[in-house]
Amino acid sequence: MTTPQRDFDIVVFGATGFTGALTAEYLAAHAPVRMRWALAGRNRGKLEALRDRLGVDVTILDADVTDAGSLRRLAEASRVVVTTVGPYVRYGEPLVAACAAAGTDYVDLTGEPEFIDLMYLRYHATAERTGARLVHACGFDSIPHDLGALFTVGQLPPGRPIRLRGYVSAGGVISGGTFESAVTAFTRFRQAAAVHRERRQAQPRGGERRVRAVPGRPGYDRDAGAWVLPLPTVDPQIVVRSAQALDRYGPDFSYSHFMALKSPLTAAAVSAAVAGTFALAQLPPARKLLLRIRPAGVGPTPAQREKGWFRVRFIGESGDQQIVTEVAGGDPGYGETAKMLAESALCLAYDPLPPTAGQVTTAVAMGDALRVRLDGAGISFRVVADDVTG
Ligand SMILES: NC(=O)c1ccc[n+]([C@@H]2O[C@H](COP(=O)([O-])OP(=O)(O)OC[C@H]3O[C@@H](n4cnc5c(N)ncnc54)[C@H](OP(=O)(O)O)[C@@H]3O)[C@@H](O)[C@H]2O)c1
Repeated sequence: MTTPQRDFDIVVFGATGFTGALTAEYLAAHAPVRMRWALAGRNRGKLEALRDRLGVDVTILDADVTDAGSLRRLAEASRVVVTTVGPYVRYGEPLVAACAAAGTDYVDLTGEPEFIDLMYLRYHATAERTGARLVHACGFDSIPHDLGALFTVGQLPPGRPIRLRGYVSAGGVISGGTFESAVTAFTRFRQAAAVHRERRQAQPRGGERRVRAVPGRPGYDRDAGAWVLPLPTVDPQIVVRSAQALDRYGPDFSYSHFMALKSPLTAAAVSAAVAGTFALAQLPPARKLLLRIRPAGVGPTPAQREKGWFRVRFIGESGDQQIVTEVAGGDPGYGETAKMLAESALCLAYDPLPPTAGQVTTAVAMGDALRVRLDGAGISFRVVADDVTG
């Protein structure tokens, strides 16, 4: 379906928030001069202050998630909509609905599996019909993992079984918005599991190819040279979805996803912190107190972001060949996330891409075009070692 003439190439919704402002900042500094764009949100005064700070000549659009008409107008005015309004399971659905109906490309930062599954069940079919590309998880969740897996698979011979493992290491400070999203997800694990089952039943089965996520075991991993914990985030689900959609991942593909840590002590401390937060999140008064630790709108300072870093090592095995690759960059949660989100929007707006529609992953919708963009913007994808062991 051809997109009718739109007023804007890109609209950033939630630009007044911590990550939204960083995304707008990135676009102001890196977007092509010809780009027509707008900042959208519910607080015009804050948006005008941001526009003045950035020194850009952009339109301000009033939009609130509680006003469906404002979201319809926003979706119909733009070719691509970027949203950082989260927790997405609480605030995200009306905009996905509006973009799916209007045939507008959509990118977000959600790392919430329940939200992604729900949006698949409710809007994938509409978006396929209108031509909208609904691309979730365009931040640290899950671009390094999704495109890193695609990059690694691309180094191995086609048409053969592949076993892939990803090991994540990172350092950084999280924002109030991310903390709230994580705590919200912890309180909804039952709903998330039910929606996931529903999606599995509704989604058409693949053909002959076998694709699966394999939960790994905690402990010392000799191949990775690190203590590892299985990481049941949204990332392995996204990698597997890309593998289901793309034949290049071979006839039999498996993926395991881990956090890599220096010592068993750190692994124990991380497990205890996650378990403690999970337990407290179940009790409403404790949850309230927990959320005060990191209020909405607050995030790491520029100095803290400067020190942030991430590295995802992949070990891919196919027959007698083993390959080690790495995706690496700076502050994962915010600086690099804003870059990944903005580059995803630019990629959808301007790059020649394979025709796709509906809910699609970053590897399926943008693949190498987005990887090349990110590589050029300082997020490196490289082969560390390539061995034929047989
Ligand atoms: N996956 C990743 O790698 C990653 C990384 C970073 C962030 N995130 C996610 O991104 C989201 C944003 O995080 P953040 O730290 O930037 O949060 P934040 O600073 O709290 O920003 C939230 C934004 O949502 C807006 N908003 C809230 N309610 C709204 C409504 N009814 N209508 C319109 N706008 C509304 C806020 O507007 P006001 O200014 O008017 O309040 C603000 O612009 C979170 O879900 C977080 O988990 C993900």
